[in-house]
Amino acid sequence: MEHFLENYGHLGWGKWYDALEKLVKNKRAFLDSAGGNFEKFKGVVDDLPKICPRTVDISSDLSAKAISIGQPDQVSPDDKERLYNGLANLSPWRKGPFNFFGVHVDSEWQSWMKWERLAPYLPNLKNKKILDIGSSNGYYMFKMAEQEPMFALGLEPQSAFYYQYCAAQKYLNLKNVFCLQATYKDLPAMNRFFDLVLCMGILYHRKSPVEMLRQIHDSLAPGGQVVVENLVIRGENNSCLFPFDRYAKMRNVFFIPDLSAMEAWLFRAGFSHIRCVDITDTTLEEQRKTPWIQTESLEDFLDPHDPSKTVEGYPAPVRAVFMATA
Ligand SMILES: C[S@@+](CC[C@H](N)C(=O)[O-])C[C@H]1O[C@@H](n2cnc3c(N)ncnc32)[C@H](O)[C@@H]1O
Repeated sequence: MEHFLENYGHLGWGKWYDALEKLVKNKRAFLDSAGGNFEKFKGVVDDLPKICPRTVDISSDLSAKAISIGQPDQVSPDDKERLYNGLANLSPWRKGPFNFFGVHVDSEWQSWMKWERLAPYLPNLKNKKILDIGSSNGYYMFKMAEQEPMFALGLEPQSAFYYQYCAAQKYLNLKNVFCLQATYKDLPAMNRFFDLVLCMGILYHRKSPVEMLRQIHDSLAPGGQVVVENLVIRGENNSCLFPFDRYAKMRNVFFIPDLSAMEAWLFRAGFSHIRCVDITDTTLEEQRKTPWIQTESLEDFLDPHDPSKTVEGYPAPVRAVFMATA
């Protein structure tokens, strides 16, 4: 992440450069001395075999599903076992799939399905400054990197996902992709800076979604765009579901807007040219249990007698992609 400041410090970032530099330094100091899972996962990434991939495929082409790194014939049987065990120790792999030298990481989510829904609507990314809030292991940043943005900067606070990103970057070594082990709140207010902000799978976890959208709006250069992917309720009554306790067994879900409420949030946050480009029911094809996660998955979150409902009796997950312009 230090390279991010070295590479882009010349952009005239003014007053927030110091705050960002401080954050990067604090995070480095934290990661260098952290115990627990951070220490464990860091060790796992350090121990992954050092191999220079002959080929990588981060193709943003819609037919390319996995982020593919190297060729199976580049690893000895011993290294393949080390690679498999190391990657398995970074579980749960929520986003993907990835292929590391023939080791296929079959993630819980088939992230290429969201990418297929989203990619046709993205602006030209060449030389753009991109922020991905909650970037997980970087799957979407890697997909976008092929189009040569100036940079894609991810924010990912969770240890396993952050170190999955580090594992992929150990081999991909993409110079225009970065990830900061930080939350959105940690990031200094970088007003009028980014060209594109991705906020996917985040808003329903926020107690103040409109406030977050307002901050995103202010961080975008004039004409910049946001992609908001969120759980929604089908319908246009300007209402929100606010679960009493859990939603699909998740504790930390607050507002799930219907389509017109989502549009109103974006409007009130200052956005224009608001468009809903996709609405999709989450299916058992897209989110399912695999050997790369140890937790429950969608089928455990739905009512076994009526899969149109969650186990709590709420409407089953539907996700929508909205785009809007600052
Ligand atoms: C539901 S996942 C979505 C991942 C990805 N954006 C996607 O759409 O597939 C939410 C991600 O946001 C991360 N996250 C949670 N709280 C966050 C915060 N305050 N700031 C940034 N990321 C956060 C989580 O660790 C997780 O990786």
